[in-house]
Amino acid sequence: MFDRVWTDAHLCTMVPRGDDPLGVVEDGAIAAKDGRIAWVGPRADLPGDAAETTRCDGAWITPGLIDCHTHLVFAGDRAREFELRLQGASYEEIALAGGGILSTVRATRAAGEDALVAAALPRLDLLLAEGVTTVEVKSGYGLDLATEPRMLRAARRLPALRRVEVATSLLAAHAVPPEFAGRRADFARLVAEEIVPAIAADGLADAVDAFTDAAIGFTPEETALVFDAAHRAGLPVKLHADQLRDDGGAALAARHGALSADHIEYANAEGIAAMARAGTVGVLLPGAFYFIRETRQPDIAAMRAAGLRIALATDLNPGSCPAPSLLLMLNMGCTLFRLTVAEALAGVTRHAAAALGLRDRGALAPGLRCDLALHAISRPAELCYWIGRNPCIGRVVAGR
Ligand code: NIG
Ligand code: FE
Repeated sequence: MFDRVWTDAHLCTMVPRGDDPLGVVEDGAIAAKDGRIAWVGPRADLPGDAAETTRCDGAWITPGLIDCHTHLVFAGDRAREFELRLQGASYEEIALAGGGILSTVRATRAAGEDALVAAALPRLDLLLAEGVTTVEVKSGYGLDLATEPRMLRAARRLPALRRVEVATSLLAAHAVPPEFAGRRADFARLVAEEIVPAIAADGLADAVDAFTDAAIGFTPEETALVFDAAHRAGLPVKLHADQLRDDGGAALAARHGALSADHIEYANAEGIAAMARAGTVGVLLPGAFYFIRETRQPDIAAMRAAGLRIALATDLNPGSCPAPSLLLMLNMGCTLFRLTVAEALAGVTRHAAAALGLRDRGALAPGLRCDLALHAISRPAELCYWIGRNPCIGRVVAGR
């Protein structure tokens, strides 16, 4: 006896079969038991009964969507900087003048944990309304021993307030805080020697992230210090890599066995091949590319040639992508980067799970968590096609 069955639905299982990368099952059914998927297949073959049956009226069911890169928790906004950029200032110039990430650091340091939760919730609700069931949340607007944990604690409170799974990443090496101005290497040492161990000891992070950038982030050597500390603490790593120039970030991430390297517009073909060999997922963030009017396209051809797993995420943050919509990223991934529909959908399901090191979700298959998104669409491509229209009609998290 199953706990629950969904029928009269078409399934986009995301388990590739033959020449069908989406693993489509038309007129299918899914059965759940104890929060896991117990059976998936054609409705006519459904074995056994269920305590509850939900008829889906021909809707499509995908795995619950996974947003594997967000900066969801922050205070304030950067609309003023948006105006400055419209007058010609670049993202990098604003950051070098003490704005950018540091302006959000000032606002976030001044906010209490409750205020951070309250600010994050409406943004989270917009993601969930589109079918997201797992969201990654980074710190990185605290940059000190008081505020980085506060951000992560705020993120960890969200699942008690909404039905969602949250994965947290410590991003203390995001920018150099004002009290360390001119002493970037000293701050990187503080992150490696004090912040990473403290966060790991409190169990507040599932991974450690960093921003490698010659002008406004950290050098590869400083990043390596932070990654070594993460490895000592038993935490996997991720990297904001090659966003504004080729810093060798892709290869650096691969050398450290990173779960993912994200942005990677400027990553070179060797770095991309190294990522593929290391099993590092490439996370594309087309919303940030769009919003800061980046012109360098990520090398999708090299990624395909290397067999790189590609994920897509919002990068939701106040500076480079104030867009709480993963569906918009599906569209932008296809329109701006020329991903196929199958690549884009893998990017917000299977490969997004891999970018978080989560093996228990991202596809519709027996044994995986029963995290589902239901959509009123007539074919999967519609998820990538609409702009600003949300066809999601339901979510299931762990079978509920
Ligand atoms: O992913 N590249 C650095 N970090 C963020 C932007 C953060 C911000 O501008 O506040 C990003 O684009
Ligand atoms: Fe980011």
